Amino acid sequence: MFRVTRHPILPTPTRTEIPFFWGGRELRAQSGETISAALFANGVRIFGHHPKDGAAQGIFCANGQCSQCLVLAEGVPVKSCMELLRPGLHIEPVEGLPALPGVNAAEELSPLFKDIEEVRVPVLIIGGGPAGLSAAIELGKLGVEALIVDDKHRLGGKLVLQTHRFFGSIEAVYAGTRGIDIATRLESDVRSFPSLRVWLQAAALAVYSDRKVGVLLEGRRYLLVAPEVLLVAAGAREKNLAFPGNTLPGVYGAGAFQTLVNRDLIKPTGRLFIVGGGNVGLIAGYHALQAGISVIGLVEVMPECGGYKVHRDKLARLGVPIYTSHTVLSANGTERVESVTVARVDERFRPVAGTERSYACDTLLIAVGLDPVSEFYEKAREFGLKAFAAGDAEEIAEASAAIFSGKIRGLEIARALGVDVGEISQEWWRTAEVLKSKPGKTVPEIVPSAESGVFPVLHCNQEIPCDPCTAVCPNELIQIGETDIRMLPAFLANKNGKGCSGCERCVAICPGLAITMVDYRKDPEFPTVAIPLEFLKETLQVGDRVTVEDTEGQALGRVEVSSVKAIKANDRTVIVKVRAPKEYAKKIAGIRLQPESESDPLERYVERTDDDSIVCRCERVTAGEIRKIIRAGSRDINEIKALTRTSMGSCGAKTCTPLIHRLFREEGVPESEIVDQPKRPLFLEVPLGVFAGLGGEKKKGSGDE
Ligand code: FES
Repeated sequence: MFRVTRHPILPTPTRTEIPFFWGGRELRAQSGETISAALFANGVRIFGHHPKDGAAQGIFCANGQCSQCLVLAEGVPVKSCMELLRPGLHIEPVEGLPALPGVNAAEELSPLFKDIEEVRVPVLIIGGGPAGLSAAIELGKLGVEALIVDDKHRLGGKLVLQTHRFFGSIEAVYAGTRGIDIATRLESDVRSFPSLRVWLQAAALAVYSDRKVGVLLEGRRYLLVAPEVLLVAAGAREKNLAFPGNTLPGVYGAGAFQTLVNRDLIKPTGRLFIVGGGNVGLIAGYHALQAGISVIGLVEVMPECGGYKVHRDKLARLGVPIYTSHTVLSANGTERVESVTVARVDERFRPVAGTERSYACDTLLIAVGLDPVSEFYEKAREFGLKAFAAGDAEEIAEASAAIFSGKIRGLEIARALGVDVGEISQEWWRTAEVLKSKPGKTVPEIVPSAESGVFPVLHCNQEIPCDPCTAVCPNELIQIGETDIRMLPAFLANKNGKGCSGCERCVAICPGLAITMVDYRKDPEFPTVAIPLEFLKETLQVGDRVTVEDTEGQALGRVEVSSVKAIKANDRTVIVKVRAPKEYAKKIAGIRLQPESESDPLERYVERTDDDSIVCRCERVTAGEIRKIIRAGSRDINEIKALTRTSMGSCGAKTCTPLIHRLFREEGVPESEIVDQPKRPLFLEVPLGVFAGLGGEKKKGSGDE
């Protein structure tokens, strides 16, 4: 019941069942899944309790960054979101402080070490996501040797979580293809080049002053990689938000949620609420609906959602209320999320008293932006190692931009190694800039005046880089400005004597599901409207009466479904046809699937007064404690650290540092006055013995090495 058993886009293969033990109880999992996925599949959300205040602990990032998901596997603390389950594994929750392991005096006094292997490579790429793979492919084409290390157990990075079709340019970055399929293509290209090597479950730990990179393979084998050039394509980590209840199990980063649902095929929630209206939050909401999860609402603090309008509109049309100029006040519950309280904000983003409302939900998704994972790049530069960064590790943007920046970095790296790659064309630089651009202006939608024949209606009224609709029309009737794919598409009724044949290819390929086809040929009073849908075909049946909506989700009327077509050529996009009165047929852009009643607020709002917002999750330090120190005059994060233990926990200050900076800002302290803590060259926690090769078969200094 906690698994996604059918999905409109993703295959749901049956895998071998394996047994494992949780707190002594035998449970079943599927082979190849992480410990956290196996626990979630068995309904386990709480992985232990914090030693400081007994707060329940569970996952937050599912990406190896926050360390909230620690469990004891055969007595050893491991991040359950990164560790694959082994058959028969005994796992225990972390309750309070774990006891130190017993000491076997004979072994401990003469531990066994092995030599640390050193590997020399022309190019080391940290990160096997869109940027890293694209760079590797360019290097592969030129025969340059490169090693890709990635801490996950498959390549593709965040692409493997994306079920939707990509925006951007068909020619440059596979626009119109689903993210998961782009991952497969890039991986097979990488595997086809003999000069490229891949290490999976290989975590880069640090860049050292001798310009070597420490890599931990499968959590056990430690190696030093000495590259001539380093490419950091390690992506981004999610920003956190401080509010009461922010660490309750059930409060996840958006990436964690997508990992559970789309990679692990786990259904971690029945009722989801989202904070953040950027592309990440909007897409995560869409993915939740595709997996059969109700999305109760989304709050965005700004007056408009920051993500693409087509993503926002898709969600609104499916029936998800979007509350702009709203913020989250608290997540409520004792051991896990039971409800969320939100409120409207004024022009200075302060909650407006009297506007509080609570909604019952079991999961709160935080999608408030990303920070580049840039520490490897910064250290490499500091130590004089030739280094490049690409994708989100360089600048946060869409995955299509990461693909293209990776291609450019691949050529730049080859050139840095002395390979003659000529000049990188101006056109490439321009494409890179276009793909990175933020959504442009929104214009009023133009409804075509025609009321005969058949033609597409383009419900696309915001400038974003996207062109798949122009490439699929066999008669070239959809056009975008010659020079800039950010311009809005326009439909020509006729070109070279040919008009629209009603082939519906544009309807099926639009990544924003923003094209419908209106056909007056059979009945001019009740034309047929073809609407794209990325849900299981059985979701709607011929004869069903449905609510149809305009672009932004306003109901237009109730009409009958006349056909539901799922053909292979449409690549899992279902085309639903309805017959609608001509008065509003051209305005129809979507069908509501989620009933309005799902989103009713609770009768009274839930006020949470029992705790403060947590800033440091690992050491459970509150915003109140830190504010007090700032108000007493401190400007030095090292001082805050010494007084409260903030940022001394196992995540290595990755989740709390941006929040501490935010507290300074809120207290009116300029960034220039803040003294940051030093960044030392170890970015992931590992047992110390790893660096000495502990666990080898030969005794160091025994003379037989
Ligand atoms: S949830 Fe596993 S490290 Fe964050």
